Amino acid sequence: MRSKIVAGNWKMNKNLEETEALLAELSAKLPDTNAEVMVAPTYVNLNNAVRHLESSKIEVIAQNMHFAESGAYTGEISADMLLNIGIDTVIIGHSERRAYFGETDEILAKKVSAALKKGMRVMFCFGEELEDRKSGNHFKVVESQLKNALFSLEASEWSKIILAYEPVWAIGTGETASPEQAQEMHAFIRKTIMEAYDTSVATNISILYGGSVKPGNAEEIFSKPDVDGGLIGGASLIADDFIAIIKAI
Ligand code: 13P
Repeated sequence: MRSKIVAGNWKMNKNLEETEALLAELSAKLPDTNAEVMVAPTYVNLNNAVRHLESSKIEVIAQNMHFAESGAYTGEISADMLLNIGIDTVIIGHSERRAYFGETDEILAKKVSAALKKGMRVMFCFGEELEDRKSGNHFKVVESQLKNALFSLEASEWSKIILAYEPVWAIGTGETASPEQAQEMHAFIRKTIMEAYDTSVATNISILYGGSVKPGNAEEIFSKPDVDGGLIGGASLIADDFIAIIKAI
């Protein structure tokens, strides 16, 4: 049975005081839910966030990590460093990492494999750009992103993967994929995984949608059968909006 998940990707937002204030408000207002709730603050505040949420149901996750164990990689963070402060889930492959930091499918495959080797869970992000959708190539692009970074994994390793389909044209633009477009792509993703692996892997994988999810559209998107939750950017920075989105699941 796959999990329902609502995760907030805070990106490069919120200083220490703002992080603590938002976490305190989220903890106080968190509704009773069977969904997993996660937040990904910026690196410098991760340790503090973990301590802050020690007795909360909200899980702190990381926005990125490096594939190497340790060494001369200035500015980077390893899986062991995250595990050491109590973080065992990491976002890998966000479109902003791909677009602004040159992360290729090959690099992402190395990151996924490094995280899994350490027993971490990976929230793997992918999704097509506007031109891909306009030219009708969106299914092909998504399939190749999945194949290049994930399809050399063993079937058993998929229990540690969460997928987040984030069409680039819907991120931070206020333009959401329609619930039908999200469902169509999520069903395609599940079918592609079923063909590469088997029904059990495909049925058990949680596939989140991300891209301008707001309190006003979350319920309709989450009601689709192959949408198992959301990866939320802007709206996760406002406690009442994020709580409303959690309630929608
Ligand atoms: P927005 O919700 O701000 O569109 O961002 C989505 C996203 O990139 C989450 O990772």
